[in-house]
Amino acid sequence: MSAQPVNPNLPPDHVTVFIDGVELAAPKGSMIIQAADKAGIPIPRFCYHDKLAIAANCRMCLVDTEVGGRSAPKPSPACATPVMDGLKVFTRNEKALKAQRNVMEFLLINHPLDCPICDQGGECELQDVAMGYGRSVSRFTERKRVVADENIGPLVATDMTRCIHCTRCVRFVSEIAGTYELGGMSRGENLQIGTYIGKNIESELSGNIIDVCPVGALTNKPFRFKARAWELVARESIGYHDALGSNLFLHTRRGEVLRTVPRDNEAVNETWLSDRDRYSHTGLRAEDRLTQPMLREGTTWRAATWDEALAKAAELLKATKGEQLGVLVHPATSNEEGALLRRLADALGCGNLDHRLGLTDFADAPVAQPFELALAEVEAANAILLLGCNPRLEAPLLGHRVRKAWKRGAQVHAINPVEFDFTFDLRSSRRVAPQHFVEALLGLARAAGELGSETPPAGMAEALAAANATDADRALARSLRESSSAVLLLGESLATHPQASWLRALARHVARCTGARVNELPQGANAVGLARVGVLPLASDAGAMLAQPRSTYLLYGIEPEFDFADNTSALKALGTAASVVAFAAYASPSLRASAQVLLPIGLLPEIEATLVNVDGCEQIVAPGVKPPGEARAGWRVLRALGEVLGFAAFGFTDIAGLRASVITHPVRAGGGLARCEPAGNELARIATTAVYRSDAVVRRAAPLNAHPLNRAACVVLHPEDARARGLEEGAIARVEDGRGRASLPVRLSAQVAQGGAWVESGHGATAPIAPNGARLSVTRA
Ligand code: SF4
Ligand code: SF4
Ligand code: FES
Repeated sequence: MSAQPVNPNLPPDHVTVFIDGVELAAPKGSMIIQAADKAGIPIPRFCYHDKLAIAANCRMCLVDTEVGGRSAPKPSPACATPVMDGLKVFTRNEKALKAQRNVMEFLLINHPLDCPICDQGGECELQDVAMGYGRSVSRFTERKRVVADENIGPLVATDMTRCIHCTRCVRFVSEIAGTYELGGMSRGENLQIGTYIGKNIESELSGNIIDVCPVGALTNKPFRFKARAWELVARESIGYHDALGSNLFLHTRRGEVLRTVPRDNEAVNETWLSDRDRYSHTGLRAEDRLTQPMLREGTTWRAATWDEALAKAAELLKATKGEQLGVLVHPATSNEEGALLRRLADALGCGNLDHRLGLTDFADAPVAQPFELALAEVEAANAILLLGCNPRLEAPLLGHRVRKAWKRGAQVHAINPVEFDFTFDLRSSRRVAPQHFVEALLGLARAAGELGSETPPAGMAEALAAANATDADRALARSLRESSSAVLLLGESLATHPQASWLRALARHVARCTGARVNELPQGANAVGLARVGVLPLASDAGAMLAQPRSTYLLYGIEPEFDFADNTSALKALGTAASVVAFAAYASPSLRASAQVLLPIGLLPEIEATLVNVDGCEQIVAPGVKPPGEARAGWRVLRALGEVLGFAAFGFTDIAGLRASVITHPVRAGGGLARCEPAGNELARIATTAVYRSDAVVRRAAPLNAHPLNRAACVVLHPEDARARGLEEGAIARVEDGRGRASLPVRLSAQVAQGGAWVESGHGATAPIAPNGARLSVTRA
């Protein structure tokens, strides 16, 4: 006969436990420490972390337990002891405290206790727990163990003598990051945590090992010795280098961001942060940061007052006819700034306004849309198809969600131009060069169409009827159809493809036929928000504005040599323009070469702003620090410019007034489709943005640029393609597109699709090369 429950009114699958006399309902199978945490009852711990597997190796969480009036003979680890109905737990009785004190004493035998010079001092879990549970005097006088440090890269500093072997970092890199770069060597007294071969940690999430380390063994290298924890002020903010909008705290002191740490938000970043969001603040105060308005005088620049600079900008804009003006906006710009740019363009009679700088095919009037399957639900999907997408580097914490889904048994498939290095296994993978991408999706769409009776997208019936569906296509379509939750992740290589309109339409057709959802990763941190506030063309789009040069450009937050899909066209158009007014955070060389007025604006950590993330969620941030020098928040500069121009729509006085007057513009539905070009047999450029060269701030973040994931500019070819061109690993190749050229070292990789030449963008050396999908000639230099 089974035992009667202590409390018959419990929710199903719950048991009753008593922790320090408090009656609690806890789910069956959960651990004592989880029930205590929920009730706010403190239990000391080092190895336990609620996002990591239970290791139970530090023994700091020992508690006394009693079942049926019988006390357990030995204290039990609260993190590894499951709850039982009627279990009594004592976290602070004499037996528990004695056990905790003894563990603490053992832990400190080999710990250096150099708190005054330790950079973890003031925010150290060991320090805190030792204060609460330790003895005031050590009984050990033996010599302490010393462990040599490893250099694990530019982001994380090591002081392994302080390591208490909790293995949180080891579990993080194996379970969460999926790179298995840390482990324990030797045993007992000699156990050492490290990479074994003395290598850099290459994970894009490596900074999180600093947060999980309970002691000062792993610390933030760029922040080292800069400040003590108690000197810092924490300001809530969000990440702005991908469209996830990861929640974070800026740790500031005297107007400077010294460190960034994650802020918990289960729906977005959980408790993690990508290295790009964590370390990008190191680029905020770069040498070329624009700190005062600048005016060009002939070939030289001089500092100007705001009045002078705004008057000059107003004069140049007013002197231009609406159709001769092009307004180009960086896709990470906030809603407030975007709304004002739309107002400014409207008041100037200009319909040429766009933020889609990285796209090349505008035939279907593409606009960024929120994910159909929410970010947090991606981990529960059971079939995921990556289409031109490397989630690991495009939005690292989306990559983490895909890995979580895979760990739960999801089938992950990919059709990509490169077999990217993922932290999950692929059930099926196709490497497809850009010139064959449409053909590949036509095959899949044809196979998906066979499963149902969906009407083909307009203008595609003929192409679909002629398409060739392979067995692999049919198996993939069936896998999507048979999943209770399937999602297509559309990434950068698809969005920037010259026939992206076809690819998007085919992907949507596949989704309709199989019941899958479509998550198209927005190309820019606030692309969804900017579409909502109307930073979209009424006349020419970004591509047309550069292909048919205008006499005047207004650039907002842009570095022309890097931020456009086609930088060569951009520089040419700007070079021939009569005037260029640039709102910018940095005085980059291309702006100095083309602009007449430089108006210094604040970056996201310095301004009040609203950004919309992949889930369509509006996130409002306050400034963490002030913009440097004379730089001002962009919305203030735009308001002042609107006032100088005498436009009525700029009459608000503060950001609340501005926000109240922001209207949401209807997002225009897609139009036609780009012509489906026949596939050629030349090499086509595969362009992906280098992870730490993605925007102006990141490009100036020295620690990120020194990270091994930031590979030097090169051209990566399939070995067969290289052999056919007489190129070998390390050779210097001349890469030409008929307009621009670059000399790049050759790397060989069978991971690259045959027929493609993978050249990452974001590097100065690769900037002159035509965009994704462009035909390239690659020859020996
Ligand atoms: Fe002190 Fe903590 Fe540093 Fe150890 S890790 S020396 S306890 S501050
Ligand atoms: Fe734990 Fe830190 Fe040592 Fe890693 S380095 S095992 S996180 S104490
Ligand atoms: Fe329970 Fe480490 S926290 S054994």
